[in-house]
Amino acid sequence: MLDPNPRVAGKGFAELEAAGIAVQQGLMEAEAAILNPGFIARMRDGRPFVRVKLAASLDGRTALVNGESKWITSPAARMDVQRWRARSSVILTGIETVLADDPSLTVRELGIARTPLRVVLDSRLRCPPHAKVLQRPAATVVITTGADGPAAMALRAAGAEVVALAEQEGRVPLAEMLRHLAARDVNEILVEAGPTLSGALLRAGLVDELVLYYAAHVMGAAARGMLEMGVLTSMEERVPLVLSDVRRVGPDLRIIARPVR
Ligand SMILES: NC(=O)c1ccc[n+]([C@@H]2O[C@H](COP(=O)([O-])OP(=O)(O)OC[C@H]3O[C@@H](n4cnc5c(N)ncnc54)[C@H](OP(=O)(O)O)[C@@H]3O)[C@@H](O)[C@H]2O)c1
Repeated sequence: MLDPNPRVAGKGFAELEAAGIAVQQGLMEAEAAILNPGFIARMRDGRPFVRVKLAASLDGRTALVNGESKWITSPAARMDVQRWRARSSVILTGIETVLADDPSLTVRELGIARTPLRVVLDSRLRCPPHAKVLQRPAATVVITTGADGPAAMALRAAGAEVVALAEQEGRVPLAEMLRHLAARDVNEILVEAGPTLSGALLRAGLVDELVLYYAAHVMGAAARGMLEMGVLTSMEERVPLVLSDVRRVGPDLRIIARPVR
């Protein structure tokens, strides 16, 4: 396939042809693109490839009303998530998940030394300096909208980088946040957040892939859903999806779905 980077696109082909080598392009292009979604998204859309992972009960619930959500899916599904983490440049979460679960969001048990950058969206800098997501060995960026002050200083003292972006409706502007990460050469992002951030990204048209794990139990309609998207008033507002992969992971079901562009 043609390199989507405008700085090099076609130059390699031209050089090969000038040297008398026959070149054909577009052969198995779809398969080639699947190997490299992050770089292609960054070149094509100016933002990284965004993959949202959610773990739910079979009735699509992700947490109890009291916030408890450990562990909905099986150890096999959680190990599968480790592989998505390992291939990502960034693991992105929202501050409410940090406050509720205190996750470390590192790659474990795979024997891989490279750790993705962790990014927390935290408009009002509520992240506690002792949060596990700030602990080494991986680096962490807290993206906020607030002015520099004692909270930012405390997070920096805890080892985090604090980046401030101009607020949009009181929160971190999602498209700009993604452009910021693209400018840092981030190709693939794994979102491991709750329904608020996951839904906001989907509603804004900023999700390329949903990786959904369903466990064989039900949590009931009072438990929290998967994606908060406000109130839809017509079926036209639904987000159409294509299911690109459906399989079992241990006792759970895994569905990979891609929003139709
Ligand atoms: N089952 C699963 O897969 C799974 C995964 C992760 C978490 N969880 C559970 O989900 C719950 C937490 O989820 P949550 O939905 O409450 O929160 P969340 O999605 O983790 O975080 C949302 C928060 O991020 C901040 N944020 C900043 N900019 C934002 C933007 N543009 N759009 C949306 N959010 C933005 C907001 O707080 P500020 O305005 O203060 O910045 C917002 O309240 C916990 O119970 C956790 O256990 C479940």
